Amino acid sequence: MTQSVKVFAPATVANLGPGFDIIGMAVSEPGDIVIANHCSQPGIFIRQIIGDNGQLTMDATQNTAGIAAEFVRQQIAPHAGVELRIEKGLPLASGLGSSAASAVAAAVAVNALFGNPLTKYQLLPALLAAEASVSGQHLDNAAPSLFGGIVLANGTAMEDIHLLPVGPHLGNETSFVLVSPEMKLPTSEARRVLPTQILFSDMVAQTKGIATLIHAIHLDDVRLFAKALMMDRIIYNARKCLIPHSEAIIDLAMSEGALAGIISGGGPTLMMMTPDNTIAEKVQHTIREFYRQHSLNVTTRIVKIAVQGAKII
Ligand code: HSE
Repeated sequence: MTQSVKVFAPATVANLGPGFDIIGMAVSEPGDIVIANHCSQPGIFIRQIIGDNGQLTMDATQNTAGIAAEFVRQQIAPHAGVELRIEKGLPLASGLGSSAASAVAAAVAVNALFGNPLTKYQLLPALLAAEASVSGQHLDNAAPSLFGGIVLANGTAMEDIHLLPVGPHLGNETSFVLVSPEMKLPTSEARRVLPTQILFSDMVAQTKGIATLIHAIHLDDVRLFAKALMMDRIIYNARKCLIPHSEAIIDLAMSEGALAGIISGGGPTLMMMTPDNTIAEKVQHTIREFYRQHSLNVTTRIVKIAVQGAKII
């Protein structure tokens, strides 16, 4: 029997523009790591969490990694004991799917520890249970972190999860700049500002955006993809006030050659889409300079789409 498994699960940008709550994309970094080992006492035990500055609970019934791990354990080895060590590479409450990545890494690790009796699709209920405990019943972060690439998560059942094709233009050439200001914005807070009703004309515009986005993905059309990202104005308009200087930063990035700028998940991370690495570096430099001039701390990363999702390392 495998004694120890170490799994990496990538960060995700959910809400790809108009794809609110239904489309997410895995990115090459950052990610969370979970190490799972057998132990003699039945149950799931979180032994260590590093990288969270002591902010996450070690109580496995409250932590998303613990919840997902326990769900999987109950299904495949209810009499076994597993201890987890979690290395948080993702900043908390940053809009990059932190809770989902930990849950994905834990579910994959526990499954692998017992010889992978479940398929990735069969891990989805465990991820849903974990996500429901923190941000509601949606898999737009967890599914892309698990499978990689760009995922349409139309609901919570296996058949609702559709892996979209990532062609060479979007997958290899396009670079994304993730801009994470040093602040926490819990998803619950970012959801509180959303409108409960929208104009009919906004519904039509949003529908146009999501249709364009899906079409662009299937065509592997970088410019159309960028255009579609910018077609959401319902969610972006409601949330932009929660992230200081968000509009100015997106405008700045566009003036340096970025093709699009959106809020990642519930924020505060912003994601700039650029056509290549050279422009990504230019955009990154200018944005860092902006934050420096405003005496604000920020972490920036240049990333690609992570075509592979959670993996054993
Ligand atoms: N789709 C979610 C939101 C992502 O934007 O609220 C955060 O879990």
